[in-house]
Amino acid sequence: MEDKRKHIVVLTGAGISAESGIRTFRDSNGLWEEHDIMEVASPEGWRKNRELVLKFYNLRRAQMAEVEPNAAHKALSELEKAYRVTVITQNVDDLHERAGSTNIVHLHGELTKVRSSMDPALIYEWGYKELNPGDKCEKGSQLRPHIVWFGELVPEIERAADISRSADIFMVIGTSLQVYPAAGLMHYAPSHAAVYVIDPNAHELGAGPRVKIIAATATEAVPQLVQQLLNEA
Ligand code: APR
Repeated sequence: MEDKRKHIVVLTGAGISAESGIRTFRDSNGLWEEHDIMEVASPEGWRKNRELVLKFYNLRRAQMAEVEPNAAHKALSELEKAYRVTVITQNVDDLHERAGSTNIVHLHGELTKVRSSMDPALIYEWGYKELNPGDKCEKGSQLRPHIVWFGELVPEIERAADISRSADIFMVIGTSLQVYPAAGLMHYAPSHAAVYVIDPNAHELGAGPRVKIIAATATEAVPQLVQQLLNEA
């Protein structure tokens, strides 16, 4: 049977996890937990120093195990009571899953997965464990984090664009919209779709006429907007 519910598409970035205790990228001056981003999140960095890259993501995985989804992640999962919801996240953490959202596209990969450094189709569930030099895929090559690094293609982008085209409501939460192609997704939303942008610095993000800017943090603004949308459903 056709699903007649309205489709809400939510694009999230580092800002939605900030209040869970995970630092955003661009709030730390190009340094990411004290590292130059290119050293730890690029194919060049991986070629130069695998140990450093593996250690960096081991720390991210360990940190993820210690934090909890916040009120914004949880509110988004409530939307599924009355809407068809797709969360397209740039985040590599699993806080949307743990908050109960069931339909999530991870544009930039997932910390809980690893993949072969030779064959990108060999992807494995890894959980919160450390990944170390010498951990290999079934074909014998070193495993790497299942993360889209700078300079790499974003395999899920076509699917995310198609999803965005079918939005009735489009929400953008906690992303500086500096990194393409993710930053362009809201422009695929059809002209009838209402667009909400939630970010304490949202006024800098360049709004169009149909964009409703909510300059507040995710935990302040998302539960309120979700309640409003549930009342309207
Ligand atoms: N609630 C909502 N938004 C917040 C909060 C908060 N509590 N705190 C900060 N923000 C906003 C910031 O104002 C900023 O606009 O979150 C945004 C975070 O932006 P970035 O650090 O650039 O993160 P993001 O947009 O997710 O980065 C995109 O870049 O580094 C790469 O691949 C990585 O997925 C990442 C991509």
